[in-house]
Amino acid sequence: MATEKMDSKELGLVLGQQILGVDDLHYGLWESDIELNYHNVTQAQQRYTEKLLSAFPPPEQSVRVLDIGCGTGHIMSQMLARGYLADGVIPAAGLSKLVQQRLQAFPGNTSKIFECTFEEFPADAYRAYYDVALFSESFQYIPMKDSLPLLAQILKPGGIVVICDFFKTEHHKDGLPGDRSFGGGHRLTNFYEALHNSQLQLEIDQDITKQVSPNIDLLNDFLMHKVKPVSETLGHYLQSNYPKSYWLASKLLRKKLDRMQYKYFSGYRSAEVFERYKSYRFIVCRLPKNN
Ligand SMILES: C[S@@+](CC[C@H](N)C(=O)[O-])C[C@H]1O[C@@H](n2cnc3c(N)ncnc32)[C@H](O)[C@@H]1O
Repeated sequence: MATEKMDSKELGLVLGQQILGVDDLHYGLWESDIELNYHNVTQAQQRYTEKLLSAFPPPEQSVRVLDIGCGTGHIMSQMLARGYLADGVIPAAGLSKLVQQRLQAFPGNTSKIFECTFEEFPADAYRAYYDVALFSESFQYIPMKDSLPLLAQILKPGGIVVICDFFKTEHHKDGLPGDRSFGGGHRLTNFYEALHNSQLQLEIDQDITKQVSPNIDLLNDFLMHKVKPVSETLGHYLQSNYPKSYWLASKLLRKKLDRMQYKYFSGYRSAEVFERYKSYRFIVCRLPKNN
């Protein structure tokens, strides 16, 4: 049994992956020909992955990729299967184990797994080393004051950064219902400013929010109709069998529980609310050749 401390972000990701039985930890790309239902989640996620990979140079040119926040390693394994050389950065110990297991399917593979945050990446040892840096729904977790300078160090001149993630829109903190129901994301305006002040040049910037947001309705349905009843049943059991401990735990965790109740079970997590507060972007930037 693992004894490493697990933080709440990792808990959410691992539980999501285990309960939904998916290989990827991103929302997927719900293009108009994919019907919105649980059976099609894998198909939508694969579409998203294909979009990421479509930005890469062809693998025949010995393309070296760093998958930053590589989740379960599913995208990494697809890169390897297509002939890319891929390393991964993963700060979550539980997920790192999944990645290691997945890579066993590639005997002789020399991929490195950096079990650290990107902020702690040993950039000095990997200067001008990568052709591609990938952030698949992981850019939001890393302060841009760290990520952008690190990218300029580890990319080869002419190398690219592919970012697929959501950002906060101008509506952030407008105080309307649902305003606080989705955490995460850098402010989009701050991103453009930070990029402008970095050595990277923007080549592609697509707003794909409406192709990602359908997944929010699916997840909300899952939370309201599966997770909520289960948590209420467990709460009832604990309250009726261990009233004192239940009372004490509720008192101590009141703030956290109220936040979770608002965020996950208030019914505000809809595609419409997501589209107001988040902008999901597919972005490709390049480090100039003459850098
Ligand atoms: C939403 S998941 C996406 C996982 C994967 N890229 C995918 O698309 O399936 C976010 C990932 O970012 C990682 N992460 C969180 N903070 C990070 C950091 N500071 N540096 C690098 N990765 C981070 C998490 O461990 C997780 O693997």
